[in-house]
Amino acid sequence: MYTQSFNVQDTPGTKAVASVPSKEDPALQAAFDTRIDADGRIEPQDWMPDAYRKTLVRQISQHAHSEIVGMLPEGNWISRAPSLKRKAILIAKVQDEGGHGLYLYSAAETLGTSRDQMLEGLHSGRAKYSSIFNYPTLTWADVGVVGWLVDGAAIMNQVPLCRCSYGPYARAMVRVCKEESFHQRQGYEALLVMMTGTEEQKAMVQDAVNRFWWKCLAMFGPPDADSPNSVQGMRWGIKRISNDDLRQKFIDATVPQAKVLGVTLPDPDLKWNEERQHYDYGQIDWDEFWATVNGNGPCNKERLATRVKAYREGEWVRDAAMAHARKQQERSMKEAA
Ligand SMILES: [Fe+2]
Ligand SMILES: [Fe+2]
Repeated sequence: MYTQSFNVQDTPGTKAVASVPSKEDPALQAAFDTRIDADGRIEPQDWMPDAYRKTLVRQISQHAHSEIVGMLPEGNWISRAPSLKRKAILIAKVQDEGGHGLYLYSAAETLGTSRDQMLEGLHSGRAKYSSIFNYPTLTWADVGVVGWLVDGAAIMNQVPLCRCSYGPYARAMVRVCKEESFHQRQGYEALLVMMTGTEEQKAMVQDAVNRFWWKCLAMFGPPDADSPNSVQGMRWGIKRISNDDLRQKFIDATVPQAKVLGVTLPDPDLKWNEERQHYDYGQIDWDEFWATVNGNGPCNKERLATRVKAYREGEWVRDAAMAHARKQQERSMKEAA
């Protein structure tokens, strides 16, 4: 899953992407603009402005990092799933997230940045990933709520990316969205079952909703007025719907689901606005959001340390795969000779 980081610079203090047209080659720039204006796709072999390439590398790599870091809070619950059925579903979901990471690293590599470079950014703490994964999953109900709300927010954000102007990213998103839809449904179904259970189970679900609701709303990123990069992203056909519009769509879709489930969304200001034909909602705590994005959430250090350890411990697997590939190549060259 993923959302939010589109507007977050990896290195604090770096400038927003320049919105001035590239001076590299006016004819190539004009051809690029024409294709973008016609809603066409840009492919890896096509000319593209440097700033477009950099924005995509940053966004797709942040997205990839979010997928693989997102495996950690739920992965913690595989050994403690309450039944074989729930365990099998959770293993499949966590594995899907790993797969999403792989599609996305591959899509980003087509822009000329190696996977090693991207992982180095993650492991050194320079690169960002979705802040939601820096919160702990305290109970089994959290696994259901992550599916329902976190994957639900991801779908809201990622469906428009299937129409992104960069071909490899858009194509990766088609499959990712299908799998995210399964993630959202399995979470909601797990919660529906818990809500027919004991009072303790119902309280556990409500508590998980209380802890995750506001953090999920923050996942869509800062308000449009504070998102200067969004305008350029929209101009390039990378971003299709603004942060605030996506957030509103998510709230409008989720309120009826919460009613069916029988939980209360923890916002006293949440109410239907007849004039706007949308739900009004309260203030998001952006100070907490930025503190978490900047490395000071409850689990930032733990998540990063787990990723670095997994990468180090997997070195022998990567070495073995490379040695095997070399041997196969040598063999096929001998046979061809
Ligand atoms: Fe997911
Ligand atoms: Fe995912």
